[in-house]
Amino acid sequence: MARDTRNFLDLTDAGGDAIAAMINDAQDRKAARYSWPKGKADQDRPLEGHTLAMIFEKNSTRTRVSFDIAMRQLGGSAFILEAGTSQLGRGETIADTARVLSRMCDAIMLRTDDHAKIEEMARHATVPVINGLTDRSHPCQIVADLLTMIEHRKALPGLEVAWMGDGNNVLHSILEAAGLMKFNVRVATPAGYGPDAEFVEMARQNGARVDLTQDAAAAANDADVIVTDTWISMGQDDAAEKLAAMAPFQVNEALMAHAKSDAIFLHCLPAHVGDEVNEAVFEGPQSVVFDEAENRIHAQKSILLWALGKL
Ligand code: CP
Ligand code: NVA
Repeated sequence: MARDTRNFLDLTDAGGDAIAAMINDAQDRKAARYSWPKGKADQDRPLEGHTLAMIFEKNSTRTRVSFDIAMRQLGGSAFILEAGTSQLGRGETIADTARVLSRMCDAIMLRTDDHAKIEEMARHATVPVINGLTDRSHPCQIVADLLTMIEHRKALPGLEVAWMGDGNNVLHSILEAAGLMKFNVRVATPAGYGPDAEFVEMARQNGARVDLTQDAAAAANDADVIVTDTWISMGQDDAAEKLAAMAPFQVNEALMAHAKSDAIFLHCLPAHVGDEVNEAVFEGPQSVVFDEAENRIHAQKSILLWALGKL
């Protein structure tokens, strides 16, 4: 890896100042192209001639579309390498794939299971490697989430964010963001389904308050933001035991009533309405999940610009 390559494997790779700059840039670019056709390039075409390789070892709708549209809006292009139809699927190593793609493309986005695979990709690539989700974390999603909170007038420092349900990859990146951007997280999960202690410690060491509880209502009490995600992430077993343990953590009107009256509801999607969130909340006035989904494009653009040294 070239020493000055800007990888985005986790939010800490960028740090709080760069994330703040990404959010500002995303807001400016979003406003400047309001109501334009979505495939039209921004006026300055900052990534003219640049190409992004996107490798998917797991399913995706938002991540694949938002990176593709983000590259078009920046004046560049993107293409998808499906793991199953490329030589990766026949055993070509990540190291060789990284070196070949680095000769052919300007950046690599990888969605995979084991985080060690993306670390391996970053070790051998000489172009930026961006984490499009691993079993450990989902940093791109959280840049979009922070942008969405700010758009909905939730200034980050001191914000009270409540997470409901499974202690998964998305929660890990929220905890990482809490330490970097100085907000607090109340984590309500069933026993045995909490986040990795490493992320809780990281947030606390960076000055965030993290409360771990099994009481969903207590976590929601006076919260500014309520967040949840699927109870069963990609690659996990659809275990009846887990679903039963998660039931008290469903985000519904009764739970939202504990939060501040102007609290917003976030979900990275895809949602399982009737499980982690009920229809009244998902479709209700506090839900900003489709702003959040759109913001994947605007966040992705800033991440790409940062990774390519243009921000
Ligand atoms: N939120 C998210 O990453 O969605 P996809 O799995 O559709 O990319
Ligand atoms: N936690 C979910 C997020 C999907 C975008 C998963 O990993 O499947």
